[in-house]
Amino acid sequence: MVKAILIGAGARGIGAYGAYALKNQDEIKFVGVADPDIERRMYFSIQHSIHSDFQFSSFHEILDKPKFADACFICTQDSIHVEPAMKALALGYDVFLEKPMAVTPEDCILLEKVARQAGRKLMIGHVLRYTVFFETIKKYIDNGSIGRLMSIQHNENVSYWHQAHSYVRGNWRNLKESSPMILAKSCHDLDILYWFSKSTPTKVSSFGSLSYFNQRNAPLGAPDYCMDGCPLQEECVYYAPKVYKNAPDWMKLPVTNKMTDDAILEALKKGPYGRCVFHSDNDVVDHQVVAIEFENEMTASFTMTAFTHENTRTIKLMGSLGEIRGHMDKEEIEIYTFGKDEPFRLKLTSEDYGHNGGDYGIMKAFIRLLEVGDNQEVTSDESSVMSHLLAFAAEESRLEGKTVDFKKFVEGIKHNVKI
Ligand SMILES: NC(=O)c1ccc[n+]([C@@H]2O[C@H](COP(=O)([O-])OP(=O)(O)OC[C@H]3O[C@@H](n4cnc5c(N)ncnc54)[C@H](O)[C@@H]3O)[C@@H](O)[C@H]2O)c1
Repeated sequence: MVKAILIGAGARGIGAYGAYALKNQDEIKFVGVADPDIERRMYFSIQHSIHSDFQFSSFHEILDKPKFADACFICTQDSIHVEPAMKALALGYDVFLEKPMAVTPEDCILLEKVARQAGRKLMIGHVLRYTVFFETIKKYIDNGSIGRLMSIQHNENVSYWHQAHSYVRGNWRNLKESSPMILAKSCHDLDILYWFSKSTPTKVSSFGSLSYFNQRNAPLGAPDYCMDGCPLQEECVYYAPKVYKNAPDWMKLPVTNKMTDDAILEALKKGPYGRCVFHSDNDVVDHQVVAIEFENEMTASFTMTAFTHENTRTIKLMGSLGEIRGHMDKEEIEIYTFGKDEPFRLKLTSEDYGHNGGDYGIMKAFIRLLEVGDNQEVTSDESSVMSHLLAFAAEESRLEGKTVDFKKFVEGIKHNVKI
């Protein structure tokens, strides 16, 4: 049985990792929590029967105490990852850190080094690796079903409504408060490409911009807040009261802890989630492409875009002997062998947890990592760093309009990191 503490009792802390612990009480128990939001802290404490002596209002306080559990889950917002992670590692905790591990490339490398030096385990929340969907694709690449892997075409279909919720109105909407979208949203996906390639990236280039969710596209007469009498409320798919009335809990929670209809309407009047999507203070892209060449000559192209109907990942892997096509939400995979017309079709099923069962898979893997040291298939801290560095390289390419020599990029960053 793993004993854990939680820093950041928000959507991920409560909804993903806390929920797993409640359903799997013989595997893991949360014995301490830190969150400045008293409602969230109390909610988590009641759910997990945490004694008042082990409830804290910030990560500083909980980490000022001597270590009192095996593992520390850090589920704060992106900019509050490094400091608690460093402190927890120094205290001797094994750490589960939400992605992105840090918002600068230097800090990603630093964290990996500190974990290594402290001899502690550090797992990053790259849940996609632990989905049945991506695990199955990996199995068919590795068993040679499509020969030598040559190219990957991967799409992150963010969807118009998810973009509006998280990247136009929400927590990841601007660089000042969060990080580039290619890091915040897609370090997962870059991790998958790196994992599948079994090779080191050599060149990275990227293009993209914020082209739609901005003032230039605001309809005539649209006010700053939807509820200030927007003339387009009937037809606009982003009209906030309509969006949040029927939204799932994970979308309602950031709007207000009290997820009742009345509380939501009140919060939307002048809150960030009630803003017109064309009048927000968002500055992250709404579409971006990344092209990567690897040392083994494999190439990958990745598209992250708001402009999709579905919110899912779709992927095509092209090999010397065949092709794999997959749709994550439908949990469908097709494997084509050249010379045969009909593909081999797989319909998968996964555990009923977030991210198509990835939230379940990653918790199982983290617990196994702690209990038996099994690090075979898990996202090691080192490979997680690689996916983050890919995101930073892509962002440099996008902003500076150049192809980034990845090895030089990494060497340059490593040179700057001293511990
Ligand atoms: N792995 C994934 O697939 C995935 C999915 C979504 C989000 N995330 C990442 O997970 C992290 C958390 O996201 P979320 O949506 O749960 O955020 P959230 O805003 O719902 O929760 C963060 C919590 O941290 C608390 N907090 C703030 N300052 C604190 C402090 N000093 N000490 C302790 N707690 C503090 C906040 O009060 C809040 O309750 C983010 O980094 C996000 O990017 C990962």
